[in-house]
Amino acid sequence: MAFKTIIEPFKIKSVEPIMMSTEEQRIGFLKTANYNPFMLRSEQVIIDFLTDSGTSAMSAKQWAGIMDGDESYAGSRSWFRMESIIKDLTGMEFILPTHQGRAAERILYGHLGGKGKVFFSNTLFDTSRANIEFSGAEGIDLSIEESELVNHTYPFKGNIDTVKLEEQIKNHDLKNIAGVVLTVTNNSGGGQPVSMQNVKETSRICKQYGILLFIDCCRIAENAWFIVDREHGYANKTYKEVAQEIFSYADGALMSAKKDGLVNMGGFLSLKDKKLSDACKNLLIITEGYTTYGGLSGRDMEAIAQGLEEVFDPAYLNYRIKSTTYLGEHLHRIGIPLMLPIGGHAVYIDAKALYPHIPVHQYPGQALVCELYTKGGIRTVEIGSVMFGKYDEQGKLIEAPMELVRLAIPRRVYTQSHIEYVIEVFDKIFEDRSKARGLKITEEPEFLRHFTAKYELI
Ligand code: F0G
Repeated sequence: MAFKTIIEPFKIKSVEPIMMSTEEQRIGFLKTANYNPFMLRSEQVIIDFLTDSGTSAMSAKQWAGIMDGDESYAGSRSWFRMESIIKDLTGMEFILPTHQGRAAERILYGHLGGKGKVFFSNTLFDTSRANIEFSGAEGIDLSIEESELVNHTYPFKGNIDTVKLEEQIKNHDLKNIAGVVLTVTNNSGGGQPVSMQNVKETSRICKQYGILLFIDCCRIAENAWFIVDREHGYANKTYKEVAQEIFSYADGALMSAKKDGLVNMGGFLSLKDKKLSDACKNLLIITEGYTTYGGLSGRDMEAIAQGLEEVFDPAYLNYRIKSTTYLGEHLHRIGIPLMLPIGGHAVYIDAKALYPHIPVHQYPGQALVCELYTKGGIRTVEIGSVMFGKYDEQGKLIEAPMELVRLAIPRRVYTQSHIEYVIEVFDKIFEDRSKARGLKITEEPEFLRHFTAKYELI
């Protein structure tokens, strides 16, 4: 018999206090942080939905692995354990350990990129785009049309548009195409999954033109859950088998293990080709560390190895996705406009629709981020014109296609009652929606401006 209540499929062995605060205190904290919650102190936050990255609670077995980690410089036992688990999962021969996802990106995109080169993607995550652009290359997103229709319930809104991909390939000199990157699930596009059919078709096109295909796989287990749930022919496969099939179509994968690796730090690059791997290993040794630890301690590698096994547990994945869906569906019921269907690791609120009185150049997403913090101590992030925002030659803001706010849910950290609290805060957000105010940017850096930009309330 199926019960309605989602219970966490784990017991809590260790707890961390949350500092409670009043709305009045939070108004002061936010002002001091220049209306950018990245600049808050974490004690000032009640529910931290800033990111699901590096914020997982580790299991007792992972903590045991921390003690058991082998810290040898070369040939660490912990490395061999992590390497064999990643080889089994990805089916790839060459594994390079990195301290997090963007280090793998810097190595791979730095090597393949450079001036005149281009990468195509369903949607590049911001660090991926920054690493590609930093190398001098260009990143072009080719998401499907449905992905920009917030209310469209297409089940695989994370897909790349394979027709556009082929057109783009034909419009470019083949020798300048550095690769295709599929981000699964598609984080910046709303945490939406990519279908197996789409991976297969992309792989077929890449093979036809001799282009390398890479999977940005930090949420591969969550993507596998959606394929088993929604795609014809996969209902009887295990989540791990589905992940293995995705990897089988690619030439390489980059992972930030801080997501589905269920750890606080770590990542890897896996490759099928020896020549490419040798070139990347040179960069690994120069910038991260020797090949059997890269940017990691032995204990980190133990925790990653264990996490990559636990994440495919059906009880865990079911709870994970259903709990995210529960939050999304309840907000939808209140009347909060959001991205449908609900994604895997996060709920994405459509701030432009919630605050039609705030023009895009006054950043409705950032306005909601500030409201959520002051009303409920909930920290979130804007994914819209602040994050993607660039200026044209006249210095006018180029608007992002959507003004979203992401509620990213850390893995195994918050309980169902925390989720109920968030829903209550949203009741208040909805009630007071006409009073929210836009913001003006007063200071910003050149790259990844959302991290450190300063604002004033209008
Ligand atoms: N790729 C994707 C799809 C990501 O979501 C991230 C990180 C990275 C690569 C980079 O990994 O942080 O380990 O260097 N996303 C975090 C987030 C920061 O909040 O979504 P990293």
